[in-house]
Amino acid sequence: MKVIEKIADMRRLRQKLSEPIGLVPTMGYLHEGHLSLVRRARAETSSVVVSIFVNPAQFGPGEDLNSYPRDIERDLALLKKEGVDIVFIPSTAEMYPERFDSWVEVGEVAERLEGACRPGHFRGVATVCAKLFDIVQPTRAYFGQKDAQQAVVIKRMVADLNMNLEIVALPTVREPDGLAMSSRNTYLDPEQRKAALVLHQALTLAQELYTGGERNAERIRREMRVLIQKQLLAKIDYVSVADAETLDELDRVEPPALVSLAVRIGRTRLIDNVVLE
Ligand code: PAJ
Repeated sequence: MKVIEKIADMRRLRQKLSEPIGLVPTMGYLHEGHLSLVRRARAETSSVVVSIFVNPAQFGPGEDLNSYPRDIERDLALLKKEGVDIVFIPSTAEMYPERFDSWVEVGEVAERLEGACRPGHFRGVATVCAKLFDIVQPTRAYFGQKDAQQAVVIKRMVADLNMNLEIVALPTVREPDGLAMSSRNTYLDPEQRKAALVLHQALTLAQELYTGGERNAERIRREMRVLIQKQLLAKIDYVSVADAETLDELDRVEPPALVSLAVRIGRTRLIDNVVLE
């Protein structure tokens, strides 16, 4: 496994890799969710590149850029075990040199939900992914359904800008009790960790209501909100039942519908979602 820090070196090595090439973009502090993407890439492609870059451009002022958890040595050991070919770990100066001033801005699908709560977030995500796609030129890039809107935004960008790769979105990996795995879960103290289960409980309720025949989206949103509000440590950012492709809020649930939510537990902001098929 090669560990590469410079863009020029990454490009040079890229020419020697056998295709198809799989790319898994990450911000590190890897868990089983990340590793599920790596394993799928390993199974489907001849060469696997994993990037680790805590992308400052996607964090807003006052967000957790400086406290974002990092453990490169542990990450490298995990990736080595998975048989990864290249780990690309650029510095911030390498990705955003002085005078950097070009951005990828995705429209409507990036403006709602996470985009509304975190202005500029998807501009940072789209820009860094466009750069990574250009540097690595993968056949396929692997993303998690955990960040459902991110996958929608990246697919929109790839289609609109005619980028020559396929985007694969893979299911959310959860803890045994249902909490979606996230690098940010490490911020939670034991009491908050218990409270964080409310996200999965609300999504399970939505799924049950839907399976029971409920098609009124507002009723589903309302029942979810009522459930979450019973958890005193939880503060709702949004609860959404939207078209899974356009992310337009629905009146009547038509599958596939994306039920998604963002909830703050103390200072930790958690997101999760489920698709109603
Ligand atoms: P990060 O949060 O490190 O996540 C990297 C990838 O792992 C994303 O595609 C994310 O959706 C996926 N992932 C995270 N938790 C998961 C889980 N529990 N199950 C399945 N997949 C999961 O997302 C980012 O980094 C960044 O925005 C990035 C795309 C790297 C751009 O900077």
